[in-house]
Formats: sequence, C-alpha cells, structure tokens
Amino acid sequence: MTKNVTLTRFIIEQQREFPGVSGTFTLLLNDIVKACKQISHMVNRGDLIGVLGSAGSENVQGEVQKKLDIITNDIMVDSLIWTGHLSGMASEEVDDIIQIPDHYPRGKYLALFDPLDGSSNIDVNLTVGTIFSILRYNGSGQPQLEDFLQKGSEQICAGFVLYGPSTMMILTTGHGVNGFTLDQDIGEFILTHPNMTIPSETSEFAINMSNQQFWEAPVKRYIDECVAGEQGPRGKNFNMRWVASLVAEVFRILTRGGVFLYPYDLRDPAKPCKLRLMYEANPVAFIVEQAGGACSTGRERMLGVQPKGLHQRVPLILGSKSEVDRIIEYHQS
Ligand code: AHG
Ligand code: MN
Ligand code: MN
Ligand code: MN
Repeated sequence: MTKNVTLTRFIIEQQREFPGVSGTFTLLLNDIVKACKQISHMVNRGDLIGVLGSAGSENVQGEVQKKLDIITNDIMVDSLIWTGHLSGMASEEVDDIIQIPDHYPRGKYLALFDPLDGSSNIDVNLTVGTIFSILRYNGSGQPQLEDFLQKGSEQICAGFVLYGPSTMMILTTGHGVNGFTLDQDIGEFILTHPNMTIPSETSEFAINMSNQQFWEAPVKRYIDECVAGEQGPRGKNFNMRWVASLVAEVFRILTRGGVFLYPYDLRDPAKPCKLRLMYEANPVAFIVEQAGGACSTGRERMLGVQPKGLHQRVPLILGSKSEVDRIIEYHQS
C-alpha cells in the first residue's frame, strides 16, 4: 500500500476514478478537515484552556450544553459559512437552519453536523467526535427547511472525526469507507484504514442496559438471548461495550464488528428516542452500509426514512448485518 497518502491526495485520486465527486466538494471537505483539526487541538488541551464543563445553557434538544458543544459548533460554522461551497447548514446545537448571509456567495451543498458527539464524556476524558453529512442543494437563493429534509440515501458524503487516543477521520463518498489518522507533526490526515468493512457476524453488543425496562419486546428478546450466552438460544457468549459516544461505538464496530442499539424507550411518549436522524443516524448509516453493515430503525432501513423535522429523533440499530437482520426479523414476528 502506498505510504503517507494524505486525505487530499486520496480525494483527488478518488475524483479521477469517480468523476461525480466535484472539485468544489474537495475544497468543502478541506474546510471541514481544517475545522476538525482546530477542534482536535482544543479538545486535547481541555482544562488547560478552561473549555470543559457546562455552559449553563440548554439546546433545542433540552440538553444542558457543554462549553465545548458551543465552541465546536462555532468553529464549524465560522469555518464553513464564508467558503461559497454551501447554501446552508444545520447543527445539533442550533434550533433552525443556519443561513449563509447575502454578502457571502452560496454553493450547491448543505452541511449538517453534530459538532461534538458524546459530549457527556468530555469532562471524564473519554473519546468524543464530530459527525457531518453533506447533501446537495439544487435550488437557488436561501434554502428552506424542506431542502434539508432529504432521505439519508441522498447524502453525497458522510464522515466523522474521532478525538480519542488518536484523532481519526472516517469518511465515505459512496465508494467504500476509509479511515485517516491525523499526523500531529505535519497536521495531515494520513490513510491508515483503507476500505474498512464490518464483519457480518459478531458476539459483541452495545446498548445502555439501564433502559432495559423501557425497551419494546423485540429488543428485550434480542438482548435477553445475547445475555443468556451459550446456554441460551444463541449458543454462544456475547460481550458488551457501552462508551456513550456514538462515534466511538461505530468506529469499534467498523474495526471488529458488533451491533449497536439505541432503541425506542417507552418511558416518555413525547421523547421515545434519543438519537437524531439528520446529523447522527443518517451519516453513520451511510458509513455502516458502505462498510457492508446494516442500519435500521428496527422497522425501516435508516437511509429510507423520510425526515419530518431537522432535529427528528429515531431508534438506531446498526452494525454487523446478520445481527441487524435478526433484530429486524424480531420486530416483524
Ligand atoms: P451528543 O453528545 O451529541 O448529544 O450525543 C450523545 C449520544 C450518542 O453519542 C451516544 O451514543 C448516546 O448519546 C449516549 O446516550 P446515553 O448517555 O443515554 O447512554
Ligand atoms: Mn448533545
Ligand atoms: Mn451526538
Ligand atoms: Mn452533540
């Protein structure tokens, strides 16, 4: 394998092979990369620069925001708003769509992002990340909400950056999934995980077990069977992981397989789901499918869900295809 293939070289060479990926898209991706490098640097310094802890404000999700939720959101917006590649943005941390002021040019893409995923982990120094999704905008003038509410299958690019022991970018443009590690010495993302694929079989599940009493029957059945181990109907023992950072769970599953569930929670009919469709579920669904895995609500392929709202929540089940298929089957029986 060619050594030291930078992300820029990789995208340019992918453009040659798949001409659909345009030049301006490459520039947009570079702007996102620059923003994520800035976020990585900030996250790595943490308390040294007083960016940890709560901001004392609430976002549209009803979550108490961390200082870094807001700081990372501002870094993403400030890095992208002037570039002329986008006609609009959407963020977990901003109630409405983010318009491009008229004094900047507008472009043919929309960017949606979760600027800091897993932010409840930032104060305890566990892996967090940034998730992004790129859609096409074929209109003219300021986009409306409806222009953002495209199915996940319409995404032209999706990725996430992991701020962990190493900073990594995981990316798909619809031609497989590739992983890049940030070489802090030269400030470049280097291709380290070409063509990532998820093993179809697994013995590892990820779910927040404290919600067990509120799950629907198909999920209860699936997890009970995993926990029953080799004495149970699955005839094998399972392991469990729960990091509480979606990006960390997805990268682990890309690396060694597994199944992740954040299912319906019957506790509060007003909020039966936690994870958001447009900037969490859809981008990771695109990546997981491109890596040979599957992603579903339990009743519907995630990339086929017709969005109804910018911050719409969905049940999220993803990972090794044979396990996701089994969970879907349990929802049908
Ligand atoms: P965010 O920090 O962007 O709000 O997302 C957190 C999400 C996701 O990253 C993770 O899988 C899940 O919340 C963890 O939920 P619990 O804290 O309920 O386990
Ligand atoms: Mn949040
Ligand atoms: Mn998130
Ligand atoms: Mn977030």
